[in-house]
Amino acid sequence: MAWLTIDRSLQIPLIRQIYKQLRTKILNGELSAGYRLPSTRSLAEDLEVSRNVVLEAYDQLLAEGYLEGQQGAGTFVAEGAYLKKKDKIATFIKDDSTSKKNNNNIIDFRSGIPALDLFPRKQWGQLAKSVSIETDHSLFGYDSPEGRIELRSVLSDYLLRTRGVECHPDQLVITTGATQALTLIAKLLISLNDKVIIEDPITHEIQTIFQSYGASLLPIRVDKNGMDTSQFPHGIKTAFIFVTPSHQFPMGGTLPIQRRIQLIEYARKMDSYIVEDDYDSEFRYEGPPVSSLQGLEPERTIYIGTFSKILSPALRLGYLILPPTLIKRCRELKHFSDLHTPSLEQLTLSLFIREGFLEKHIFRMKKVYRKRRDFLKEQLYNEFGDKVKIHGDSTGLHLIAEFDGIHFTDILLSKIHDDGIKVYPVESHTINKGLYSNHIILGFGNLDEVKIANGVAKFKKSLLTK
Ligand SMILES: Cc1ncc(COP(=O)(O)O)c(C=O)c1O
Repeated sequence: MAWLTIDRSLQIPLIRQIYKQLRTKILNGELSAGYRLPSTRSLAEDLEVSRNVVLEAYDQLLAEGYLEGQQGAGTFVAEGAYLKKKDKIATFIKDDSTSKKNNNNIIDFRSGIPALDLFPRKQWGQLAKSVSIETDHSLFGYDSPEGRIELRSVLSDYLLRTRGVECHPDQLVITTGATQALTLIAKLLISLNDKVIIEDPITHEIQTIFQSYGASLLPIRVDKNGMDTSQFPHGIKTAFIFVTPSHQFPMGGTLPIQRRIQLIEYARKMDSYIVEDDYDSEFRYEGPPVSSLQGLEPERTIYIGTFSKILSPALRLGYLILPPTLIKRCRELKHFSDLHTPSLEQLTLSLFIREGFLEKHIFRMKKVYRKRRDFLKEQLYNEFGDKVKIHGDSTGLHLIAEFDGIHFTDILLSKIHDDGIKVYPVESHTINKGLYSNHIILGFGNLDEVKIANGVAKFKKSLLTK
C-alpha cells in the first residue's frame, strides 16, 4: 500500500503510525465503506515491518469499529466511519503571535504591575523547596476552603501591625487574588437589580464583576480625596458600598477621616455593608501610613487584600476578611468556586511573612518605586512643562497625568500604541463618561529609568506628530 509510510526516526511506535494513518483515511473518506484492505502479510511486506505490527494495528481498528472482517474473508472498512468535514472554523481568536512579537519593543505604562525582575526569587524558591520537600504529605491532598491556618494566623498578626486591621484568623478566607474575592462578595451579597454604591471612576473589571451578578451601579464621583461621601443618595437600600479608601483606583486619593466617618454613619443608617479594597496601600510615599477602614467598623466592613502588587500577580494570592455573620456562607461559596487556593503557595507565603522577608521586601521596593515615581514626574515635567498636571502620586504603582488640551480618543491612543507606547485612559474606567478625556494612567512599577525616559520622550513625539 504505497500511501502508507513508516518513519523510523520518529518516537511513535510503528503500530501507532499504521493505525493513525488508516484511521485518518477512513474518517476523511479516502477509504470508503466496503473497501477491502490488503492482507496483513502483504502490507507488512510493503512497509517492511513484521506481520504482528500490522495485525495489531488492524486489531485496534477492528476493536474501535473502523474495520470489519471475518477470518479468511478479508478486512473491510466499516459502514458509518466517515466523518463529514466541518467548514473551517473561523478564526475568532486573533492570532496574537505577531502582536506579541511587536509588544516586546513597546514601552507599556500599564498600572499595577510590580517590578517583575525584582521578585525575591531566591528566598521564595528556597522556602518553596522546603515546603515541597519537608512538609507532611497531607499537604498534597485537598484542603479547606478558607485556606491554611498557618497563613491566616500570620496574616492576621501582620495586618493588625501594619494596617490596623482587626480580625481573628477564622475571619479570613484566602482567595485566588483579589479578583476572586470580588467575585465571592458579588455572589454573597448581590441579588438581581440590587444597588451597589461605587466610586466613579473605578476599575472597569470591578464594575463588570458586580454587574454580571445583577447589580445596578450607583456611581459617586471621586475627587482628590477619594469618594465624595456628601453625594450619597438618600433613602435607597444598597447591597454594599464599594470603596478603595487607602488609594482610590485610578485617581489616587486617600479618604480622610471625616469622609470615613460619614461613610460608616451612612452604612449604619442604611444597614449596608462596606467593601474595602486595599490593593496596594503598602507603598505610601508621602504622609503617615493610613489605617484601614475595617479597623473603624469591623462589624460591617469586608476587607480585601492581595499579594499581586507587593509580590507578584502570578502568585494569584489574595484574601478576604469578613464580619462573623458572613464567614460560613463565604466558605461554602469558595468551596463551590474552586475548593481552595493552592496549598503549597499558601504555606510558602506564610513562611515568607513569618521569616520577616515580606516586610523587608516591601521596605526595599518602596525605595525603588519612589525613585521610579520621582523620575517619571521629572521626565513628564521636563517634556511637557506646565501642560501637564500630576495627580494621585502619593501611593501605589501608578500616577495620573492630566494634559492641557489633549483628548485621548481611541484613534489617538491607537496611534500612540503604533508609535511604541502604551498608555491607559482614565475614561475606560468611568461610569459617567466624558469628564476625564484628557487624563491618562501611567504605571511605573515595572519600568526602569531607561524605559521611563524613552517612554516619555516617545510619547511626546507621538503626540507632536498626530
Ligand atoms: C483596585 C483593584 N482591585 C483589585 C485588583 C485585582 O488584583 P488581583 O491581581 O489580586 O486579582 C486590581 C488589579 O489591578 C485593582 O486595580
